[in-house]
Amino acid sequence: MKRAWWQEAVGYEIYPRTFYDSNGDGVGDLPGIINKLDYLRDLGVNLLWICPFFTSPMDDFGYDVADYMRVDPSFGTNDDFKVLLREAHARGIKIIIDFVLNHTSDEHRWFIEARKNRYSKERQYYIWKDPKYDEYGTMIPPNNWGSFFSESAWSYDEMAKQYYMHIFSKKMPDLNWENKTLRNQIYDVARYWLDLGVDGFRLDAIAHLAKDLTFKDSSQKANIEGYTLDMSKFSSIPRLFEYLNEFKDEVLIKYPRIMTIGEVGGLASTDEALKYSNYKTGALNMVFNFDTCWENGAYGSEDKLDYQIVTNVKNLKHLFKKWYDACNGKAWLPLYWGNHDHPRVVSQYGSVRYRNESAKMLATTLLFMYGTPFIYNGEEIGMSNVDYTRITDFKDVSALNYARKASNRLSEEQIIRFLRRTSRVNARTPMQWDGSDNAGFTTGTPNQKVNGNFKTINVAAQEADSDSILNFYKTALKIRKDPSILNSVLEGLFELVEPDHADVFAYVHKGAKPLLVISNFRSYEVPFKLSYRVKTVLLHNYPSMEKRGLMLQLRPFESYLLELDPGTSL
Ligand code: NOJ
Repeated sequence: MKRAWWQEAVGYEIYPRTFYDSNGDGVGDLPGIINKLDYLRDLGVNLLWICPFFTSPMDDFGYDVADYMRVDPSFGTNDDFKVLLREAHARGIKIIIDFVLNHTSDEHRWFIEARKNRYSKERQYYIWKDPKYDEYGTMIPPNNWGSFFSESAWSYDEMAKQYYMHIFSKKMPDLNWENKTLRNQIYDVARYWLDLGVDGFRLDAIAHLAKDLTFKDSSQKANIEGYTLDMSKFSSIPRLFEYLNEFKDEVLIKYPRIMTIGEVGGLASTDEALKYSNYKTGALNMVFNFDTCWENGAYGSEDKLDYQIVTNVKNLKHLFKKWYDACNGKAWLPLYWGNHDHPRVVSQYGSVRYRNESAKMLATTLLFMYGTPFIYNGEEIGMSNVDYTRITDFKDVSALNYARKASNRLSEEQIIRFLRRTSRVNARTPMQWDGSDNAGFTTGTPNQKVNGNFKTINVAAQEADSDSILNFYKTALKIRKDPSILNSVLEGLFELVEPDHADVFAYVHKGAKPLLVISNFRSYEVPFKLSYRVKTVLLHNYPSMEKRGLMLQLRPFESYLLELDPGTSL
């Protein structure tokens, strides 16, 4: 079967703010990425997703865009981006950029005009409602919808004398996708970047463009402040697919070489995912949902102690299988453990104590499944969650909003424990390049505090160590790219092995070259029956195989990629 380039690619997500700072101002930048392109090529990735680098007041570090067509000065210039694109392409690396279509910054000129002038065309670009009044005559928001960032989804604007809707921070007003002029403006932005040569988009918060236009209250119980986060009011609503089809017809289809990947949080089901990305009528090439990201119970674990946070391996593997079953032959899938909004996977599904073993195990498990893998920057050296001891170190609007609201029911210690387990700041500490000051990320003061383990966990140390996580990733990616292996990975039927096993995630690909992955997700030894004839050990994170008869004695986080004898019965 002929595959598109993005089906064979290996993706790598860059959070530019903390990737590499080339000019010592403490903020990572585009020239910093250019500087690291050889590193990325040598790692074996060939598709970069770069988080937003457009002009922004940085309330949400770039997801609050004030000018879609200009690079924020802290990240460099538009010319820097052109150089980055050229240099990446020269190394066989494609670049997709992060396109934020659900909202702008409140400092975008559209919103500035909209607030000022009720009769301007820009007023219609956003979602405005008149206030309601409670029984005491106090002004209250038009409904009880809450935002993702621990606030009401409505803020009153004194100048406009109306409430505007924002499902993220109050500095990120939602766009009104019902308005065709607005949609055309967005399409112009898309064309601008596509004409410049970008290879596609990661489409931010795409599930939320359409809202329940009745704006009726949610029937969920509101909190004491009168709101509740009810994602059904603005997630995967049927009208959304009309917007996306129009975007496809008017823009995307005209650039057949590109790829698109939508971020569809909001608990999208597999059926909904197929609506976005099925090969025949979907507007997008694939979608990120986050089903597989929280299978250790960390989400909502405020009152739990660390030892109570345990990976539910059975659920985890069945979720991967569920998505495969729903999409195989019908839609493409991305593969990822996390991203800039999630904790570090080594802390989540692996173990800091067994960092080396567990990071390699996680790599093996993910990289040989069906789909296009996305490695999040730092994952390839086993970076882990923060060691912060002060709430103020968690520089992030959603973490700080949460901490403020939680402070009346939780102690500071509980809040920090929860944030160290769940906050997206865990993924946003500076990339650890070497053991020098600030992990070699900047010569200035880093915008986000460096993880205290950088002296031992860093790229330079791992480049020098043939047994490092980094070198393991390089080997794994070379194996994945071998055409006969890739064929089995992408086309061989994917089946779980011992699907009910509570500790081991094992699967086969029944391709011309049958492959078996066996991964122990525990920090203790687990026996596992090897029921197939093995031809070769392709990848292994321990120096030797421990086997008693047909039983493998899997050590902590031990993991294998095995090529099976083609004659073995599967
Ligand atoms: C999803 C992005 O990944 C996240 O970082 C951001 O805060 C929200 N969308 C809002 O743009």
